[in-house]
Amino acid sequence: MSLHEFQIPVVFRHRVAFTRAAFDPGNDVLRGILRESGGGPSMVVIDEGVTRVCPALAGQVAEYVAAAGLELRGVHLLGGGEAAKADDRGVREVWRWIDEAGLDRHSQVLVIGGGAVLDAVGFAAATAHRGVRLVRLPTTTLSQADSGVGVKCAINAFGKKNWIGAFAVPHAVLNDAAFLHLQDEETRRAGLIEAVKVALVKDAVFFDWIEAHADALAALDADLLEECVQRSALLHARHIAEGGDPFENGSSRPLDFGHWAAHKLESLVGHGLSHAHAVSVGIALDSLISTHAGWCSESLTGRVLRLLATLRLPLVHPALRWTDDAGRLRVLEGIDEFRQHLGGPLTVMMLRAAGRGIDVHELDGDLVSRCVGELERRAEALMARPR
Ligand SMILES: NC(=O)c1ccc[n+]([C@@H]2O[C@H](COP(=O)([O-])OP(=O)(O)OC[C@H]3O[C@@H](n4cnc5c(N)ncnc54)[C@H](O)[C@@H]3O)[C@@H](O)[C@H]2O)c1
Ligand SMILES: [Zn+2]
Repeated sequence: MSLHEFQIPVVFRHRVAFTRAAFDPGNDVLRGILRESGGGPSMVVIDEGVTRVCPALAGQVAEYVAAAGLELRGVHLLGGGEAAKADDRGVREVWRWIDEAGLDRHSQVLVIGGGAVLDAVGFAAATAHRGVRLVRLPTTTLSQADSGVGVKCAINAFGKKNWIGAFAVPHAVLNDAAFLHLQDEETRRAGLIEAVKVALVKDAVFFDWIEAHADALAALDADLLEECVQRSALLHARHIAEGGDPFENGSSRPLDFGHWAAHKLESLVGHGLSHAHAVSVGIALDSLISTHAGWCSESLTGRVLRLLATLRLPLVHPALRWTDDAGRLRVLEGIDEFRQHLGGPLTVMMLRAAGRGIDVHELDGDLVSRCVGELERRAEALMARPR
């Protein structure tokens, strides 16, 4: 018997570019990325929701790729929103397109869309031929501020969020600010929650900045929205690249602050609750829990709740109250599901101070229940205050 151990060092390059009107013939950014990667044939998948507000997009993309001297083997539309990743149908469709186009590992799949379409297409690309290059162009506030610049992709299964998925560093990410302003107002505003999240656990100065500009951000001031998205994207990308655990082998996941409850609420409610709004409720709840458990001050939680209300983000949802046959809150199931998803002992990020999180390994169900009640009362009071 013998055991041999080998080291396999691998360095990933994670590129995130910020631009505007990426498919304008005069814009070189995407051309550079596509050519530099060897210029293999490409295929494009676009979120149908984006083409609805920008019907000329498919044609512009085709012209841009052709003008770059690259072979384009198809432009496809995939229905947007959570339905894209609710089961494996979207992924199977993309696999078929990749196969029919005869793409290989030197080819590139360009995906343009919200977080759900990026996730489904990303998983299909990561698994076809064990990995076809993926160039992401996120189009929502949330996906430009968070998911699109990450290194994960997933679809839902067994009634659980993101159960099937992979870690796969995209070939490049292009945040095109022009897409932000095409979204409806609610989606444009809602995605700011991931900026609030990353600020709360990573960057007190950024949190102060969001707070100071909350009214203007709520009013969707274009420059501030873009700045907020960019700062959030860079904080996420930096944490992934420099935080020491890009593929989440450990148990701590600072970027998932507020997410144990959010993911459970999303599964409980189904398509009636967006990820962004679920995270907002999760952050409100975890901030309150952090105060009552003695981890952070009441004044910080007060600031968080006021900020979310100013940004017109929800603090509560009726599903927080849903119970099982034994009368236990269903949302508490999210704690164990969160632990299972990560493996190892339960580790949940809670708040210590503005810009600083704390990993905790136990969450008391009774405390969570009490906080749900208090959150409902405080949310009502905040919503009733004059604007
Ligand atoms: N992989 C990760 O690391 C990660 C991280 C965070 C979130 N996520 C996932 O991201 C998903 C949420 O993504 P989202 O918030 O971007 O929402 P979404 O993808 O569900 O899109 C929301 C809606 O906006 C439409 N849309 C997209 N871009 C548009 C634009 N520019 N103009 C008009 N309409 C547009 C879509 O068609 C859809 O109807 C969730 O499934 C969540 O789990 C993944
Ligand atoms: Zn999230």
